[in-house]
Amino acid sequence: MEIVEVSDYDAMSVEAANLVMRHVVQNPSLVLGLATGATPIGTYKYIVDHYKKNRISFKNVHTVNLDEYIGLETTHQNSYATYMKENLFNHLDIPIEQTHIPNGKTSNLIEECERYEELIQSLGGIDLQLLGIGLNGHIGFNEPGVSFDSKTNVIKLAQSTQSANSQYFKDDTKVPTHAITMGISTIMTSKRIVLLVSGKEKADILYKIIYGELNKNVPASILKKHPNVRIIADLEALSVLKEKRSVNS
Ligand code: GLP
Repeated sequence: MEIVEVSDYDAMSVEAANLVMRHVVQNPSLVLGLATGATPIGTYKYIVDHYKKNRISFKNVHTVNLDEYIGLETTHQNSYATYMKENLFNHLDIPIEQTHIPNGKTSNLIEECERYEELIQSLGGIDLQLLGIGLNGHIGFNEPGVSFDSKTNVIKLAQSTQSANSQYFKDDTKVPTHAITMGISTIMTSKRIVLLVSGKEKADILYKIIYGELNKNVPASILKKHPNVRIIADLEALSVLKEKRSVNS
């Protein structure tokens, strides 16, 4: 895993956006895997700025999102479909039918998981996958304990994840308890992965991913096995790692 150290959240966002744009320039038909949460919002903002300034077209790009809550209409203000439209898709020239997000409102979840897996395969796999990380080491919504062989599946969200997500549910909507997520093995088949990590609260988990053992209770620890992972982390996120390194040196 290659670690790129940046000063802060803004620098992480610029670095990640520039990397995505380089890939779109090199491959205008890029299959781009996307994440949600607070972490990539700045990256999306800089992608939009870059797109507007340099008119780099997304019209042949396909995107596949990692996950979606079960039970929310796509138009719900807290759905990841809405998040993606507001933060990215509405501001680019990408045709909306080339943007893919699991359907959390389907009546047949098993079929939806299979459809999503097949869709990714039919696109030729993911060229570049952006990832954030949950405080418990989850990627997508693959919570601790999930099998490293998992494909797109339905997952019960950990209590800590539900609490972390509750800040976004300001109306009376209950925080969803389940989600559809790409599986760990789906994510691992991406040709290249970029993990974004910012803030002090992620410092412990980042240290565990980099120096801890491969452990399914820390789902992101599997990234060590991937041949092409770049971690873009800011100084706060790297603080525990740096502290331990200086104690050991
Ligand atoms: C959610 C998303 C993940 C994301 C994680 C971290 O659980 N499903 O894809 O990485 O949150 O969120 P944040 O970036 O807000 O810390």
